[in-house]
Amino acid sequence: MSSPRIHSDTIQEVKDRSDIYDIISEKVVLKRRGKDFVGLCPFHEEKSPSFTVSPSRQMYYCFGCGAAGNGIKFLMELDKSSFADVVLDLARRYNVPVKTESPEQHQEFQKTLSLREKLYEILAIATSFYQHALRQPQGEAALEYLKFSRRLGEETIQEFQLGYAPAGWETIYGYLVEQKHFPVELVEKAGLIVPRKAGNGYYDRFRDRLIIPIYDIQGRVIGFGGRSLGDEQPKYLNSPETELFDKGRTLFCLDRAKKAISQQDMAVVVEGYFDAIALHAAGINYVVASLGTALSINQIRLLLRYTESKQIILNFDADAAGTKATERAIGEIETLAYRGEVNLRILNLPNGKDADEYLYIHTRHDYQDLLEKSPYFLEWQIHQIVGGKSIENVAESQRIATAMVELLRKVQDLNQRTAYIQSCAEILSQGQSRLIPMLADSLRKQINKPLVQNQQNKASDSRKSDLIISAQRDRTLLEKAEGLLLRIYLHCPEYRQEIIKALEAENLEFSLTNHRFLWIKISEIELSLQEQKPREDIDLISQLQNFDREHSSEISEVSHLFYLNEKTINDIERPSIGIRAATASLEWVLCEKRYLQYLDKWKKTDIKLNLELAEYYQQQLYAEQKRMKELEQLRMVKFSELTF
Ligand code: UTP
Ligand code: MN
Repeated sequence: MSSPRIHSDTIQEVKDRSDIYDIISEKVVLKRRGKDFVGLCPFHEEKSPSFTVSPSRQMYYCFGCGAAGNGIKFLMELDKSSFADVVLDLARRYNVPVKTESPEQHQEFQKTLSLREKLYEILAIATSFYQHALRQPQGEAALEYLKFSRRLGEETIQEFQLGYAPAGWETIYGYLVEQKHFPVELVEKAGLIVPRKAGNGYYDRFRDRLIIPIYDIQGRVIGFGGRSLGDEQPKYLNSPETELFDKGRTLFCLDRAKKAISQQDMAVVVEGYFDAIALHAAGINYVVASLGTALSINQIRLLLRYTESKQIILNFDADAAGTKATERAIGEIETLAYRGEVNLRILNLPNGKDADEYLYIHTRHDYQDLLEKSPYFLEWQIHQIVGGKSIENVAESQRIATAMVELLRKVQDLNQRTAYIQSCAEILSQGQSRLIPMLADSLRKQINKPLVQNQQNKASDSRKSDLIISAQRDRTLLEKAEGLLLRIYLHCPEYRQEIIKALEAENLEFSLTNHRFLWIKISEIELSLQEQKPREDIDLISQLQNFDREHSSEISEVSHLFYLNEKTINDIERPSIGIRAATASLEWVLCEKRYLQYLDKWKKTDIKLNLELAEYYQQQLYAEQKRMKELEQLRMVKFSELTF
């Protein structure tokens, strides 16, 4: 297809919105050096990095070979693409509505987009529509609300592309479907309109609401939050989950925050949209919001990519709901946190304020001070246990001690555990320091005792559950899970990248011989064609069938994966869910293996002679079990939705 002529406005906007660090860091490993970043030059062979990227000048240059330019030039050179193709790609990625010189050309362009890309485009156009409506007379109240009630500056309103959804029932419907001729099903899939219950037709999801666009990591709009302007319930109405919007894997503002998170080497998580917006507006930009849902382990993992020392501070509301949400979030990251893989701290602002309210009367420096002083999550939890209760009361003090024991048992690091035993003992001693050693000793004994019994029960249980049965069950599970991943890989090319990412994220591999074989063949084919086309354009199935005569018998063993029947079509209907469930299953089998190994070692360790080692194995057992439970949820729920 000949590329449509792109409107100069679009080109300018792409230049304004794209970021050279974003663009290049996807292709070259960059390390910070002062204000700039350096890496190995992709345009010539070199052993030490002379390729420099300057975010402030939005330029790259190589001291070795002299290559230099902006982000667009970089992609043109690296991918050998035309200017127009690079601009279109970036426009999609940065959520810039594409204007072409004529309507026919625009329709032509539409045809070339995948479903996801079409949805991105619809959402980008909807964003502009809502932004525009905010500046119309009908949006006046909303604009006033932003400026005066929420005290947001013009710049912030623009930067976050805040908008207003007019009060009518068919406003965005009329605009997108009737005026812009987007297919109604697509607009529904984008989450913007809802089918009427009675009869046919659709109505707007967002009516008379302030609109807050929600972006993916690359800064493309994937959904909206809509806040009511008065007392209408719900206070926030959000886009439903769509092809693009996966709430459990989205963090509001991560696109804007990721750079600051890696620079500050820490991330703050708040609850509300406006908390995040207010903090960014105040210049504290290493902040994301959790979208009001429980913070998931996946969201945390997303954050951990950007902070090297794994520092996360949860700043949820200090009210009962916020405290509960904090406890839930800690529970969710428990395995990581107690293993010391996340350096988790908790900030509760004074007087139960949320960050947005706090900043009305305090400066960013006040907030940063509080961040610095925020307690490590274990201290916070101990405080929750003790908070407001009277230790003098014997029964109460016993309950507190029991809760402490339960908490401290989860702490993996023995030094850390010792330190917290000490500080709990201090709390329980109520100032009578003579008692501390005895209390500490008693805590330590309780911490060690019950779990040992527990594990022994578990140990004999698992002896009963015959190892052979577990091996057989694992095999069936792997057969299904690996088979599903390969089917999706072969039949849903646009999900290939997602599969690779999911496998890499947990270091997973195919373990059944024939699947391994197929995976290696696939990699070989992709490698041999990588110069010619991107991964998702390769017709793997026909390539595999022609590829390699000498392996035809191995190929025939996996060839059932090349064809879909009624059942397997259903299985791959929702690829993202399938990928999640299948990778969770692979990881589960790994965890189980490790669990059995630790169990074996633990049984062989004499607790009397080697308490520390025994404790260490217990911790590992506990951690593996915990992770298996998490994974079970992921895979069970999702598996039962699939038909296998
Ligand atoms: P809060 O109720 O704490 O409100 O919800 P807030 O952010 O302080 O709201 P303002 O300041 O009154 O505007 C926290 C977050 O939970 C989600 C939203 O993401 C919100 O920002 N939420 C809340 C919903 O999705 N729906 C609701 O009805 C309420
Ligand atoms: Mn608030």
